[in-house]
Amino acid sequence: MIQFLNISKKFQNNFWEKEFNALSSVSFSINQGELVGFLGANGAGKTTLIKCLMDFSRQDSGEIVFDSTILGNNQAEIKSNIGYLPERAYLYQHLTGREFLEYAGSLSNVSRNNLNSLIKIWSEKIQIDHALDRHIRGYSKGMQQRLGFISALIHKPKFLVLDEPLSGLDPIGRRDFKKILKELNDEGTTIFFSSHIVSDVEEICKKVVFIEKGKLIYNGSIEELILKNSNDMYVISYEIDNKIHQIQVNETQKISKLTELLNSKINLLGLEKDKLSLEEIIYKIKK
Ligand SMILES: Nc1ncnc2c1ncn2[C@@H]1O[C@H](COP(=O)(O)OP(=O)(O)O)[C@@H](O)[C@H]1O
Ligand SMILES: [Mg+2]
Repeated sequence: MIQFLNISKKFQNNFWEKEFNALSSVSFSINQGELVGFLGANGAGKTTLIKCLMDFSRQDSGEIVFDSTILGNNQAEIKSNIGYLPERAYLYQHLTGREFLEYAGSLSNVSRNNLNSLIKIWSEKIQIDHALDRHIRGYSKGMQQRLGFISALIHKPKFLVLDEPLSGLDPIGRRDFKKILKELNDEGTTIFFSSHIVSDVEEICKKVVFIEKGKLIYNGSIEELILKNSNDMYVISYEIDNKIHQIQVNETQKISKLTELLNSKINLLGLEKDKLSLEEIIYKIKK
């Protein structure tokens, strides 16, 4: 649906300073229907790439190709099919939340009647309905994030691009946002969102794009990455006296240990491949 082909971008803060590569020949693609997590430490280049995708900034070289059969042929049509939440959403502070959403909706040609009901549905779902008639200037960071999130998706875009959507939210807000991202994706919205928190991506995505200092480190299935980086050990879990125990065994020990446990009075709970978490693997492949 979207292809990034060898995207490079340099920055130079002052002419006497050396240029540095914010993005070095980054290539990957996002397919229709995917929920893709875009991971990288602070300063890795995530926002820079997202700005190129949104055409707010231009790469020095490389190309971003949009599938015209899905997103349309011209800039205007493509834009109308994309929803975008910037890292620091600029919300007009003198408007109320409701006025801002009405304005955002009118920009993307949502009909007035439809818009009012969408504002009601989404603001209740995102739990900002209580503050809709207050001025944005009094909103906390998390409240602004919620409002920005609604404005990105109110026109039902086919493709949603979110730059650190979970930052600034309380734990319940994070959980709700993740649930909504999953739901939207289940309904068919393709989603690309950046995060510097590995566990958030691991929790809801099947696919990850991981960059480090402007270079692509990994792009693909999370499950495959985890299996590829796992050892050949297994973990057997069992219960004795209401306490859970786990032992690590190798392939040859597996059967004999399981037989031993099954023959005793122990409550066997499970057998699993000993997997590293995505976070542990990312530390490993970075080195
Ligand atoms: N407009 C700019 N001018 C100079 N340097 C920039 C500019 N935008 C980003 N950078 C630098 O590019 C690098 C990547 O930044 P960014 O894409 O914001 O990272 P991330 O979003 O992954 O935290 C950082 O070192 C940042 O300081
Ligand atoms: Mg960023």
